[in-house]
Amino acid sequence: ATHAPLPEKNCASITPPYAGLIENLSQVRKHIKHKLTLAEKILYSHLSEPSKSLGVGGKIRGQAYLQLRPERVAMQDASAQMALLQFMSAGLPQCAVPASIHCDHLIQAVDGAKTDLERSIISNKEVFDFLESAARKYGIEFWGPGSGIIHQIVLENYAAPGMLMLGTDSHTPNAGGLGMLAIGVGGADAVDALTGTPWELKAPEIVGIHLKGKLSPWVSPKDLILHLAGKLTVRGGTGRILEYFGPGVFDQSCTGLATVANMGAEVGATTSTFPYTPNMRAYLNATGRAPVARAADSAAAQGFLSADEGAEYDQVIDINLSELEPHINGPFTPDLATPLSKFGDFVKEQGWKDEFSAGLIGSCTNSSYQDMTSVADLARQAQSVGLTTKVPFLCTPGSEQIRATMERDNVTATLEDVGAVVLANACGPCIGQWKREDQKTEENAILTSFNRNFKSRNDGNRLTMNFLASPTIVTAMAFSGKLSFNPMTDSLPLASGETFRFSAPSGQDLPSAGFTLGENSFYPTPTPKPQPDTEIVIAKDSQRLELLEPFSSHFEGGKTELPPMKVLMRVRGKCTTDHISAAGPWLKYKGHLTNISENLLITAVNDEGGDVNVAFDHDASEGQPASDTIPGVAKRLKSRNQPWTLVVDDNYGEGSAREHAALQPRFYGCAMIIARSFARIHETNLKKQGVLPLWFADKADYGRIGSGDVVETIGLSELLKGNGTQIKLKVAKLDGQVLEIETKHTMSADQLKWLEAGSALNHIRSQMD
Ligand code: F3S
Repeated sequence: ATHAPLPEKNCASITPPYAGLIENLSQVRKHIKHKLTLAEKILYSHLSEPSKSLGVGGKIRGQAYLQLRPERVAMQDASAQMALLQFMSAGLPQCAVPASIHCDHLIQAVDGAKTDLERSIISNKEVFDFLESAARKYGIEFWGPGSGIIHQIVLENYAAPGMLMLGTDSHTPNAGGLGMLAIGVGGADAVDALTGTPWELKAPEIVGIHLKGKLSPWVSPKDLILHLAGKLTVRGGTGRILEYFGPGVFDQSCTGLATVANMGAEVGATTSTFPYTPNMRAYLNATGRAPVARAADSAAAQGFLSADEGAEYDQVIDINLSELEPHINGPFTPDLATPLSKFGDFVKEQGWKDEFSAGLIGSCTNSSYQDMTSVADLARQAQSVGLTTKVPFLCTPGSEQIRATMERDNVTATLEDVGAVVLANACGPCIGQWKREDQKTEENAILTSFNRNFKSRNDGNRLTMNFLASPTIVTAMAFSGKLSFNPMTDSLPLASGETFRFSAPSGQDLPSAGFTLGENSFYPTPTPKPQPDTEIVIAKDSQRLELLEPFSSHFEGGKTELPPMKVLMRVRGKCTTDHISAAGPWLKYKGHLTNISENLLITAVNDEGGDVNVAFDHDASEGQPASDTIPGVAKRLKSRNQPWTLVVDDNYGEGSAREHAALQPRFYGCAMIIARSFARIHETNLKKQGVLPLWFADKADYGRIGSGDVVETIGLSELLKGNGTQIKLKVAKLDGQVLEIETKHTMSADQLKWLEAGSALNHIRSQMD
């Protein structure tokens, strides 16, 4: 290991182009007259056409669709697979913006960093090799297994005030700790940025969170977001950006702000951000990015990195930090917030056992130097009176830089002395990569400083209650093993018969001796040149990776309407992206469209009969059963070259931006989906994959179309020529009746080009030819 002080990085590719962004903003101000919030400044300065009016009668937030040009893309190993496979099928020689890949999700925690890493590299070799070769070919920075967790690495290396970045992970907003907008998206959206296609976002509403006062001892930024999650609930941030302001922002460390931004995802927020602060400058300087700090100072002096005086928010929430106390949130949902002083009573009321079975700290949310030195302070106090942790105590460093700095400054040794096991620099137990031998099926509780606590998330056991708390609260409680222990007020018994009470932890925001990089081998070549001759490594018989074949267009040979389509089924009720493409064990097939498509709609309810995962085949050949699983019938239609359509209910495709939910039906031959209504992101994903989404003009028509009916479009040809507006459906029922059904659509002129080409990627490729 090297222990050299952190050298200054080459900051050319990581400094936002402030002069251009400020100029863009001055263009925007010509047609937007109101005072701007910080989030608006960052968004509007990244518009692809800043001089074009957004033209929605004055109201932009919550209404207008913004066409944006993000500056950077970050991808983690699980989601990067499909993002890259799609990017490859666009046929471009290199990425349009700088990008990075991070191998963090596929590393399983078993017994400690070294062996876990070795084992995971072997079991995921083909995926890592694929990602590495794609990175080399297209000039993407590749952070290999063991280098750290995407969000920590982005904060240490790429994040910069005022930047707009996309990441293929829902906690991408972590980078907001450096005063930027970092947004979590699906792979198809990342491909927009990677191919230089403007990325569309409905202008979010902006919630202003006014912070005043000072955090008391024992209270950390984690407690601020745990408290806020309780207030806003898991849906309170949907379609909104959380923009913090006020004097309370300036007292927090940059990494503390990152924790708050990270968990904005838990309230569904698009992202979170903060005005530029001296602590952000200090963090940039400490991480080798003084040139970025200097450029940000000058952008801030021009008013770019904070809200205009008097800017209005869609809602303002006031929080007095002095009144906050530590919180413990959960189980099973991050918005069940209980103040520490009430937690013991809460546990008693619920009738839970007053014990927990493991304490876990670190992860992308809470593994900063400040977090780690604070918990080491508690460990040192406990060790001085001969205490060790009562339960297994696991620590995940967020990056090699943090790990190496912890080791150099004796933080690791201090934690290990009281019983901690330090895991690999990877997601591990935070994403369920935790081979836990104890507590497999019993009800038990764990305390973590992570960000999510849905059932089964950490150890696969639905009965494990995961409570979220700050790293210091988790650590102090690990010396008791009791859920009711309040380290602020309670004492622990010592062997001598005396008792011991913790003093409030004190940590250090930044290391006085500077950060150290650690093992050089974990670091990528900065801004690598694309190597177009690189062969992308996918084994012929791979079960985990498969090249994407471009989807064919329905409009070849002068055709102007979609071909006649069979109705596969009428889906009843709620159908989220999880219903369309289930996760869990299917995650390992994220890079293999044929294999993962076997899960198509397997938890959807067929409205004809009410069964789950049953579809009817009205053209079954002799000897073939007349019904099968949904993917089973979809495959039969594909093998007959029979395009098909689905009839679906309200808010079809709600949930996440998971592009597999659009890719999979398209892969089996779905050409159109007719819905009572669509969830917007999924509707766009369908359009991107060349599937036509139509809305019933009259929702009652939903019940008039059934499986086996043949549907044809009327009016699409006019629409494609730019003349018509609406599309009608001609439905030939199984009993010989013919109906005409009115529909609506939301296809823009650009999106019609995607449909004609067979997919957005085909269209992008045709523009290159
Ligand atoms: Fe996500 Fe946890 Fe990794 S929140 S990035 S899975 S550490």
